[in-house]
Amino acid sequence: MKGVILAGGLGTRLRPLTKITNKHLLPVYDRPMIYYPIETLKNAGIEDVLIVTGGNSAGDFLRLLENGDEVGVNLDYVYQRGEGGIADALGLAQRFAGNDDICVMLGDNIIEKNIREPVQKYIQSGSDGGCIFLKEVHDPQRFGVAVLEGDSVKTIIEKPKDPPSNLAVIGVYIYDNQVFDFIGGLEPSDRGELEITDVNNRYIDAGKMAYGILDGWWTDAGTFDSLLRASQLVAEGGANRMD
Ligand code: DAU
Repeated sequence: MKGVILAGGLGTRLRPLTKITNKHLLPVYDRPMIYYPIETLKNAGIEDVLIVTGGNSAGDFLRLLENGDEVGVNLDYVYQRGEGGIADALGLAQRFAGNDDICVMLGDNIIEKNIREPVQKYIQSGSDGGCIFLKEVHDPQRFGVAVLEGDSVKTIIEKPKDPPSNLAVIGVYIYDNQVFDFIGGLEPSDRGELEITDVNNRYIDAGKMAYGILDGWWTDAGTFDSLLRASQLVAEGGANRMD
């Protein structure tokens, strides 16, 4: 399995912090934000990682991370023009993925524990379909929200005004190679982006989406409040813990 980190976008919710640099290069406690998703994938047993970036300071990723030696993975890079959405950014990973499965992580997501077990289980079980991770939150309207029915996910609604549950879909996704076919068939949403929630709903409609409930805390770091919270959580107990 290969890893893909999506670190494009303009980070407009964090202006002026992101006026001249990329959101994922901002500090979260003692390290640049991008270090955390890299470590998540590395701890899951993934060795080859693609960073999709764009917007401001794309070249600074190379200066910071070089070929990945210091962070313990092999790094590749690709550039996303504009801000066409998370699924648009993921589409740029097709050549890198080749015929392999991928574990995708949003570059502003940070988790307390690790996802080694579900990733290894997916690989061992024959790598079919997709897998998402859910977490109970108090502010579901900020996220993709899952509706469960029995043992499975019935649908996901992106940023619902009136959330049908408090189960947010976190920014870590496992996909087989069919993901690129699904992305190819997407239309832009009302906000003009190719949505990762639409990709996930294609898997659900095909009856090929598993889910897990994430253990430990999870946060994104894409708003002032969540960026501060991320630093506090990391300072208190560390992220990507293997214990
Ligand atoms: O954090 C989890 C949530 O992330 C999910 O629950 C939502 O379903 C999902 O849509 C996403 O929502 P956000 O509004 O938080 O996404 P955001 O626009 O902040 O983008 C998340 C990351 O994706 C960002 O750190 C960089 C990357 N990205 C985003 C866009 C729009 C790209 O690489 N390219 C893009 O064009």
